[in-house]
Amino acid sequence: MKNIVILISGRGSNMEAMIAARDAGNLPVNIAAVVSNRPQAAGLRAAAQAGIATRVVDHEAFAGRDAFDSALAACIDQFQPDLVVLAGFMRILTAPFVRHYEGRLINIHPSLLPSFPGLHTHRQALAEGVRIHGCTVHFVTPALDHGPVIIQAAVPVIDGDTEADLAARILLQEHKIYPQAVRWFAAGKLSLDNGRVRLDATLDTAAALIAPELRPA
Ligand code: GRF
Repeated sequence: MKNIVILISGRGSNMEAMIAARDAGNLPVNIAAVVSNRPQAAGLRAAAQAGIATRVVDHEAFAGRDAFDSALAACIDQFQPDLVVLAGFMRILTAPFVRHYEGRLINIHPSLLPSFPGLHTHRQALAEGVRIHGCTVHFVTPALDHGPVIIQAAVPVIDGDTEADLAARILLQEHKIYPQAVRWFAAGKLSLDNGRVRLDATLDTAAALIAPELRPA
């Protein structure tokens, strides 16, 4: 069974979605550890309650990004991960760190990349007036919120939507697509090949990426 290490900074609802999928028997991975850069991250408690090893590597204890990333990698590597899963991990990672985990480091971002990288994605989407918004799971490259796309889910933007409405609608989809990406990886169906995603998935599975509200009747 593949080992995964999940990195969080806060609430950890994507992490919880993976724990729930694992517990339900449809995510056959060993969640070896949950690592946070913030000691107060709420997700740490949920992970510990689920019996998962937790670690804190507090970025404030380090002089710079290089020192922090080295300590973080040393912590992660104790668990010999096949895959490192960024789930609301709010730190920019250095190029050496990203290279160290090339092909086994993935992230989820609450927009349809390459639109709206960075923070406040729902505010950006509302300001642009887009009609379709969503979320993206991608392999991580040294550029922020950038990298080969693994899976995306789309949701409609409805007149009168607030940032909170969009965040909630998209989070439901995040909780589906992120476990799906890890499931593909665990099954050996997903890899990074020369900077391109290789995915052995059927059209049926791909159709599930569209929010039900958007599917043709
Ligand atoms: C999610 O919206 C994710 O896309 C973004 O940060 C948020 C984390 O939420 N990267 P949670 O900590 O998983 O609840």
